Amino acid sequence: MIRFEHVTKRYADGTTAVDDLSFEVAKGELITLVGPSGCGKTTTMKMVNRLIEPTEGRILLDGEAVADADPVELRRRIGYVIQQVGLFPHKTVLDNTATVPHLLGRPRKAARARAAELLDLVGLDPSVYGDRYPDQLSGGQRQRVGVARALAADPPVLLMDEPFGAVDPVVREHLQNEFLRLQSTLHKTVLFVTHDIEEAVRLGDRIAVYGSGRIEQLDTPATVLGAPATPYTAEFVGADRGLKRLAVTPVEAADLEEPPVVRLDDPAARAAEALAAAGAPWAVVLDADGTPYGWVAAEALTEAGNGPATVRGRARPMAEAVQLGTPLRQALSTLLQHDAGWLAVLDGDRYRGVLTPAALHGALRRATTADAADLARDEVALDTVPRT
Ligand SMILES: Nc1ncnc2c1ncn2[C@@H]1O[C@H](COP(=O)(O)OP(=O)(O)OP(=O)(O)O)[C@@H](O)[C@H]1O
Ligand SMILES: [Mg+2]
Repeated sequence: MIRFEHVTKRYADGTTAVDDLSFEVAKGELITLVGPSGCGKTTTMKMVNRLIEPTEGRILLDGEAVADADPVELRRRIGYVIQQVGLFPHKTVLDNTATVPHLLGRPRKAARARAAELLDLVGLDPSVYGDRYPDQLSGGQRQRVGVARALAADPPVLLMDEPFGAVDPVVREHLQNEFLRLQSTLHKTVLFVTHDIEEAVRLGDRIAVYGSGRIEQLDTPATVLGAPATPYTAEFVGADRGLKRLAVTPVEAADLEEPPVVRLDDPAARAAEALAAAGAPWAVVLDADGTPYGWVAAEALTEAGNGPATVRGRARPMAEAVQLGTPLRQALSTLLQHDAGWLAVLDGDRYRGVLTPAALHGALRRATTADAADLARDEVALDTVPRT
């Protein structure tokens, strides 16, 4: 969709801002450009919509050289969120957002209606915020208006230059989540600039790690973190890259353990036999629908008790479950917040197995070292019996 062919930008004073850049952004792909200040990220971006002309090489948009396109027509196809937002201070939020569609010839009323939809889409209620001026918004709200404005002409391509740069980490994470949600339905082709490796990892289908004027590595977040191509990249992504990688490595079916499974309405004696046969100290308890209810310890099943001896009277509920595909970091965090020592893992509604500390440890090793495939489970065996 966007193709850079040997693109170089040299400024009049001799600064080479971008040096022989070649790469391609696929349709619907989001590539994050990450690197230190002054490494050429903004220059790369501005050459796409011809705010800057390359010194050498060419850029193709949908197979067509942007150098041959009319700049005005070109910019209609490319939404642009600039570093520092750049809203018109004397226009209301609604009018800021409606500007582009109006310029594109939509009647004012239709442009404003569309603007209201877009504000809604980025999580700003137009009836609350539409008539405010930019200086009556928080930084994060201004950045959302910037995103809404870039989406206003419904361009297939978005250039976003540190769109969430000026907000605190909590708001930033919120904006990132909203943007990911939007992107999962809009499928724009996006170049997204950031200083922040965590943001790059979180948002990018691929990450381009910039050195000075050049891309040092362009690959998926998991590969950039797991196998940095150069010492520069390794240093840039940080010594804690193993931890960062947990955010992009999902829980897989192969990570799970499968303790015996009993049903709430099973007779306690039969359940006890099943556990004894498996040599297991506890079992997962599912309800009649097959949804996890909790767990039951072997001793609890054999204790004498009152009333009908089914698993129900002996089981303990366990509310926490995670979905297959959940990032390991989130699974670990959920596990740490609960006492049980394990988590049920679901695939949609279906119970798939449990994540124990030992299983998680294996998964973490898979995520953090490129060659951990040979790690044996029993090397890391831990006591995984839930504590009461
Ligand atoms: N008009 C100009 N004339 C000369 N040099 C320039 C000009 N514009 C940018 N540069 C230089 O080109 C290099 C790349 O600038 P660019 O704005 O692309 O960096 P960046 O990666 O976006 O940095 P930041 O993260 O700080 O926004 C820098 O060294 C900058 O000083
Ligand atoms: Mg910049």
